[in-house]
Amino acid sequence: MTARWGWMAEAMARKRVAILISGRGSNMAALIEAAKDPAYPADISLVVSNVPDAGGLEVAKASGIPTEVVDHKLFGTDRAAFERALQAMLERYRIEIVCLAGFMRILTADFVGQWQGRMLNIHPALLPQFKGLDTHRRAIEAKTKVHGATVHFVVPEMDSGPTVLQGAVEVQPEDTEATLAARVLAIEHRIYPQALKMLAEGRCRL
Ligand code: GRF
Repeated sequence: MTARWGWMAEAMARKRVAILISGRGSNMAALIEAAKDPAYPADISLVVSNVPDAGGLEVAKASGIPTEVVDHKLFGTDRAAFERALQAMLERYRIEIVCLAGFMRILTADFVGQWQGRMLNIHPALLPQFKGLDTHRRAIEAKTKVHGATVHFVVPEMDSGPTVLQGAVEVQPEDTEATLAARVLAIEHRIYPQALKMLAEGRCRL
């Protein structure tokens, strides 16, 4: 293959993506579903959980996606050792892009640096509003009129990287945390596959 054709083949190949989860994995499922389309520019090559019994692992397995567990508890307080194991796993599967999808571990600047511009996260709020946890309760308490979800590049500071895509919903007076969460989740499932597509096609970059 000439250098020119080699370059084109690489640009057109589906990007190898790992999804990192800690729980039920509904965003993971949305990404897996999108990637079933052969025209989608990313292949979900691996799902990794830091929680051995995360519900999402079974969902991934049922779709024939390789799954791995890197249990943070086995590393005690040694965050660097946990991340070395995670990194080794990602390298073993030749991963090119990482999607955090309800992954409940804070990652160090070292790890984030290794994936700069190649790691996305989804957050259930319109960042920079409501970083952190309990976003729906806080949105209701603050009497926010418009709430939503954000897909962003991961940077060392939590929930702070540049936005790739956002989706919004109106907050209704009768909304509870649960009803609002359900509407935002539906938005998450739409925007995460779109954002990953944009990154995998090189249409957005950090
Ligand atoms: C989602 O609300 C996501 O925005 C947040 O964690 C939740 C994960 O849900 N980061 P799921 O595991 O994808 O269903």
